[in-house]
Amino acid sequence: MRWQQYRELAAGLESIEDFWRYGQSRFSQAGIDCSQGYQTPRAEAAALIARRLALEPEDLPELRAARLTALEREAVLDAFYQREILRRPTAYILQEAWFAGLRFFVDERVLIPRSLLEPFIEEGFAPWVDEQRVHRILEIGTGSGCMAVALAQRFPEAQVDAVDISPAALAVAMRNIASHGLEERIRLLESDLFAALPGERYDLIVSNPPYVDAAAMAELPPEYRQEPHLALAAGDDGLACLLPLVQAAPAHLRPGGVLVLETGDAEEALLSQYPDLPLIWLEHPAGGYGACLLLADESAQ
Ligand SMILES: C[S@@+](CC[C@H](N)C(=O)[O-])C[C@H]1O[C@@H](n2cnc3c(N)ncnc32)[C@H](O)[C@@H]1O
Repeated sequence: MRWQQYRELAAGLESIEDFWRYGQSRFSQAGIDCSQGYQTPRAEAAALIARRLALEPEDLPELRAARLTALEREAVLDAFYQREILRRPTAYILQEAWFAGLRFFVDERVLIPRSLLEPFIEEGFAPWVDEQRVHRILEIGTGSGCMAVALAQRFPEAQVDAVDISPAALAVAMRNIASHGLEERIRLLESDLFAALPGERYDLIVSNPPYVDAAAMAELPPEYRQEPHLALAAGDDGLACLLPLVQAAPAHLRPGGVLVLETGDAEEALLSQYPDLPLIWLEHPAGGYGACLLLADESAQ
């Protein structure tokens, strides 16, 4: 549908309430995918309306009767058009996403933050990680930098190295690290896994690598196709990054160090390759697994 036609269809809308109900209905009928940071069509409509009016979504209920000016109507409808017709994710339209309670700039250069590791980072990986022993952290595949920033805040005494193979993603990460004032504590490096880190060792290595297998890549909703291919695709079996990561990580862990991995749906493929690997699976508060830990030997050299 063309933009002009989309505008004409919405000609009778006046109040915030009208737009909110309309957006919710249109998004539901269109079957938009709501798994990139907003759980429902109603929440997506609220975020788009609020941010285009320089408000917060929580402000909308008490302002529901307020009428929009002509300029405001255009701004909100433009966001609805991008979301419904172009299937652009809300996070990219608004150029913002939230992770561990922190705000991040995002655009099409990076994955929209939604890692399963979020609650475990917030808990400092208790009881598996002793905060007092964490002085050096490595994050592999940092994307927007959201996990590196959340880790630096959760472990205030630690220095963090954050790597990514994508220079475009690193530019976004740099912007987020600066906006959180963490330039002194987070070092960004372009690296294919550990390639730029010979001989470096860490107390904690964390990664949410790409792990979508070829069959699942072919079925992705349109919203996911707007995210970087590099951030999702991981070969036929989803293990293109996970396997070399698991193999190389022990040499980069200090004695007693911990590797934390998000495996998502590649969990079974990983287990079938390494049935004897002593992985500890982390149960997500919302149910299910898809994240695990590997503990380095206390006596490892
Ligand atoms: C699933 S995204 C995770 C982004 C971010 N950590 C998050 O949780 O939102 C995976 C990231 O790994 C990066 N990546 C892919 N292959 C890589 C490799 N071989 N070495 C380093 N980073 C890689 C991608 O560019 C992408 O930014």
